Amino acid sequence: MTVPREQQRVFGEVAEAYDDVRPGYPAEILDLITAYAVRPPGSVVESGAGTGKGTALLRTLGTPLTCVEPDPAMAALLARRYDGDDLVTVAVSRFEDWTPPAGGVDLLASAQAWHWVDHTRRTRLAAEALAPGGVLAVFGHDFGFADDELRVAMDAVYHELAPEIADQPGRPVNTRHPGAFHPEELRGSPWFTDVEEQRVVTVVPYDTGRYLTLLSTFSPHRMLPEQQRSRLHGALADLIDERGGVVAQKLTTALWLARRLD
Ligand SMILES: C[S@@+](CC[C@H](N)C(=O)[O-])C[C@H]1O[C@@H](n2cnc3c(N)ncnc32)[C@H](O)[C@@H]1O
Repeated sequence: MTVPREQQRVFGEVAEAYDDVRPGYPAEILDLITAYAVRPPGSVVESGAGTGKGTALLRTLGTPLTCVEPDPAMAALLARRYDGDDLVTVAVSRFEDWTPPAGGVDLLASAQAWHWVDHTRRTRLAAEALAPGGVLAVFGHDFGFADDELRVAMDAVYHELAPEIADQPGRPVNTRHPGAFHPEELRGSPWFTDVEEQRVVTVVPYDTGRYLTLLSTFSPHRMLPEQQRSRLHGALADLIDERGGVVAQKLTTALWLARRLD
């Protein structure tokens, strides 16, 4: 019997490429988190740390940081990166299966990964992981385009060759994901207060080759049959090359903050 490939486990298939091409997070995100926190966090846990794109930011806090990451290949790359760093611990686990320390942590962060945690339980699990007054910080990029004409032309290629992902070509913060995060989950919960949303915009240029590699790290692309993905990527590459060979990726990084009630 063939076991179906799970969408949340596809990142490890391309861990090195993921680490190479996925953008990190702007320093302003950490500034916003620390400004929001009443006290400097003394302990931090990161859910879905991957290869460490969000970890790089959180590590600058200089406090003990536990990175929870279920994919063995992603976790191995992360563990190699922080080998010998006494402040960073990697726990190879789903967040749902991880046991928080007694008393909870001061900051629970998740970069581009909260949508993978069981949406029926994650708010309660977050509350259980946090100390009273602790902060939940959920952030992630929306992968938009600085050049609207290029976006329109690319959309046409998606509609022709991969209509099933046409409205989510590389936009992990998308509302169609079954686990998509909605701030109402926190606003309506008995455990959290002071829910806030912030946005930071940056533009990152990708040449054609790197852009195609970037696309190959997005789970909707990875889940396409090989032949279809190759046709789609070939057509996108031709289009980008015709228009100068660069995609100016407009990243809108959304940050949602909430405080654990005492
Ligand atoms: C899109 S990647 C984000 C990785 C990293 N935080 C970043 O910003 O690049 C999503 C990560 O969530 C992890 N993940 C999937 N299911 C998870 C779960 N139930 N609990 C924690 N992490 C999970 C995946 O293995 C993957 O590394």
